[in-house]
Amino acid sequence: MERLLVTGGAGFIGSNFVHHLMEHTDLRVTVLDKLTYAASKESLEGLPEDRVQLVVGDIAEAEVVDPLVAEHDAVVHYAAESHNDNSLHDPSPFIKTNILGTFTILEAVRKHEKRLHHVSTDEVYGDLELDDPKRFTEDTPYNPSSPYSASKAGSDHLVRAWVRSFGVQATVSNCSNNYGPWQHIEKFIPRQITNVIDGIRPKLYGSGENVRDWIHADDHSSAVLTILEKGRIGETYLIGADGEKNNLEVVQLILTLMGQPADAFDHVTDRAGHDLRYAIESGKLRQELGWSPQFQDFESGLADTIEWYQAHEDWWRPHKDAVEATYAEKGQ
Ligand code: NAD
Ligand code: TYD
Repeated sequence: MERLLVTGGAGFIGSNFVHHLMEHTDLRVTVLDKLTYAASKESLEGLPEDRVQLVVGDIAEAEVVDPLVAEHDAVVHYAAESHNDNSLHDPSPFIKTNILGTFTILEAVRKHEKRLHHVSTDEVYGDLELDDPKRFTEDTPYNPSSPYSASKAGSDHLVRAWVRSFGVQATVSNCSNNYGPWQHIEKFIPRQITNVIDGIRPKLYGSGENVRDWIHADDHSSAVLTILEKGRIGETYLIGADGEKNNLEVVQLILTLMGQPADAFDHVTDRAGHDLRYAIESGKLRQELGWSPQFQDFESGLADTIEWYQAHEDWWRPHKDAVEATYAEKGQ
């Protein structure tokens, strides 16, 4: 494998993966990204120009996707509309990009007989009770709750069907919630960090008892590369780092790490259909492929992330007012 096509490589996790590839492989990479509001070209700055190329285009357009797939050895597919709250406001781009876009990628890898790794989320499994002793595994039935998670579930099903019906050489991964640099400030952790920087009280949906299973984006990238190199075709691997925390704990930790009283936050209108708990059992990936996460300590990973947002105000500042205005309209 020499040339890799990375869709959505100008987004939060995709750009982290491109950096990871530059550091750990000799691969040459083409990023295919539509540069939606969620993308940032800055996240790809400083990478070697002879190894990374950006093509601006839509994964749902076959005339863009087909020739690119033809000239690469494999595709790693991150491109998606990724924010649950946006999907509740307007589901249509989620259906177009996540379902039709994935279909378009699948048709191209089928035609050109190329390897595909499809990046998905644990949210396809729905949610767990707080006291459920079981976590999500590769055998958990799909039960998505939101337009976002339903569209990702739809894309996973397409990939599985193309493997079975057409012999497409694909793997799938479903990862838990990521944190780290370059995450859009509409998402929970960067929103609260940038709120505190701006003297705005963090906003907790509902009671804050909802649990997310946090993993650093660098660990997600190392897991995807491991699956690309060693994963068995047709298999699904769950990616997680045993990072369960409820939202209240995360907000209190951000406030404390930023020198504020732990109770200086507001409860706001809850998200419609808000999933209660996600939790990943990642034993298959660890035992079969020998992967393990490097960021074992959430508090120090979060402290690094806070420092990153403090140092990169130029990047997020232009978007802050608009993001907060959109949330304010919904009482959030
Ligand atoms: P993101 O929103 O930060 O980035 C998505 C990228 O895809 C952006 O650069 C955007 O411009 C691009 N894109 C969107 N529509 C496109 C289109 N039609 N054609 C080409 N490019 C398009 O998302 P993220 O958080 O980096 O997530 C990346 C992937 O990882 C998604 O598939 C998501 O479902 C999955 N995932 C995310 C998380 C998480 O915690 N963020 C967890 C598990 C899985
Ligand atoms: P989010 O980052 O949107 O990720 P996801 O919906 O994929 O889990 O939200 C993470 C959790 O934080 C989720 O339970 C919703 C909650 N949340 C808040 O409490 N306040 C906020 O301002 C946001 C954006 C999210």
